[in-house]
Amino acid sequence: MTQNTQCDIGFIGLGVMGKNLVLNLADNGYSIAAFDLDNEKVNAAIEQDKLESQQDTARVIGCSSYTELLSKLKAPHLIVLSVPAGAPVDQVCESLIGAGVQPDDIVIDTGNSLWVDTVAREEKYKNNFILFSSAVSGGEVGARFGPALMPSGSAYAWTRIKPIWEAISAKVDATTGKPIERTQPGEVVNEGEPCTAYIGPAGAGHYVKMVHNGIEYADMQIICEAYQVLRDGLMLSTDEIADIFEQWNNGPLDSYLMEISVDVLRHKIDIDGKQVPVVDVILDKAGQKGTGLWTAMSTLELGTPAPTIAQAVYARSISSMKDIRVKAANLLTGPQVVALTGDEKQEFINNLHDAVYCSKICAYAQGFQLMKQAENEHGWTLDFSSIAKIWRAGCIIRAVFLQSITDAFERDQELENLLLDPYFVEQLNKHQLNWRKAIATISLMGIPTGALSSSLSYFDSMRCNVLPANLLQGQRDYFGAHTFERTDKASGKKYHVEWASADKAIKLV
Ligand code: 6PG
Repeated sequence: MTQNTQCDIGFIGLGVMGKNLVLNLADNGYSIAAFDLDNEKVNAAIEQDKLESQQDTARVIGCSSYTELLSKLKAPHLIVLSVPAGAPVDQVCESLIGAGVQPDDIVIDTGNSLWVDTVAREEKYKNNFILFSSAVSGGEVGARFGPALMPSGSAYAWTRIKPIWEAISAKVDATTGKPIERTQPGEVVNEGEPCTAYIGPAGAGHYVKMVHNGIEYADMQIICEAYQVLRDGLMLSTDEIADIFEQWNNGPLDSYLMEISVDVLRHKIDIDGKQVPVVDVILDKAGQKGTGLWTAMSTLELGTPAPTIAQAVYARSISSMKDIRVKAANLLTGPQVVALTGDEKQEFINNLHDAVYCSKICAYAQGFQLMKQAENEHGWTLDFSSIAKIWRAGCIIRAVFLQSITDAFERDQELENLLLDPYFVEQLNKHQLNWRKAIATISLMGIPTGALSSSLSYFDSMRCNVLPANLLQGQRDYFGAHTFERTDKASGKKYHVEWASADKAIKLV
């Protein structure tokens, strides 16, 4: 490509994700005009592209301003943003307007924007350009060799973006449901099912990505709790725990997050001539950028219980209160842990496996139910089997398990909750006793397992015909005359007991 040729795509933001998306686009035959406020990042992307493509003609050209970027693109312009969520997205949008972006130009926000911001932006900029959103999952490797992409917004824009997104996304073998590996620069995959599909109108894609991240938090926390139980309850070494996770990764728990946990646990660093597992020196204070919190907030707003996801957010918060925890640890006692041995130990490890598996099912059930509730609330039409399909490869929560979820929603598009699907019913009924045994033992060990335990509580609440909310309604009626419905009368009719009166008469209100 010469400097005068018009490029297919303009790209803004050449951080780790941006640079890798650019290289991925270039591998798939698209020419790119790139801009970043930090010109060094543009140069780095161009250098890496030259090195990887080994071509004389550049697939990526650098631009030093928004105006130059627009001038280098085929019209109508297609511009991809990979900038941090929040104010930077608006700053770039305003700069593009200043540079002369046109109403039929498409600007794609690939960051983790808050979905309501996306809805507001689409409206705000509709006379200036078409704001489209497409959250990306898969981290830097995913961006480079095939991410999962969750596009939403203008249906017209999607017709232009679709072939590009299908080309660069991860692919799944339609027969096995497993990812088709792509690991080398220059490699492209033209077969299989792409991990992208139109999600819906503005905001829907970012909402779905937000829930993906909420599930990601839960999935990670569940694995971390199993790690702590094996470490502090069974006193296993980091390598022994890695061995167990490696075995688990061959069954229904086969997932990217389990796989990387094994790699993290196995990695050793040299400290004073000694090989020490890196996890032993990583400070136990978890960071978070906010998407898990947004998911938990949305569950509360919509009244859709997702305790495993919320617990995963709380677990990060409590981990960051290190100073208070250290003080409390010196004051508050716990049980003396006696490490299990022999058959008892193996049985407990098997039970813990089932606890992890069942909790994972509950976390996904919560995430999908949340999306279902959001669909009703916001008037979207979400295709849940398609969402599960997108998540089978490329994204952080990719797992063999996502095929079972895809199958469940293909069996019944209207499925209200995964816990009602025959396959998951069978799995939960089969493994729940081991799950309970694991939680009982862990509780006696005094090890915190908010995600594993709250999942069990969710499961038990979901299979409970009569919850104690009858007493709760009685309490509300007692102090606040909030009324209640009766099981022995027609639904919708409200009753109140005159608690202060001598006869405490029950009245229809
Ligand atoms: C993905 C990830 C990603 C995530 C960051 C940071 O799907 O690729 O979910 O989008 O936002 O890895 O997440 P936290 O800092 O909140 O853990």
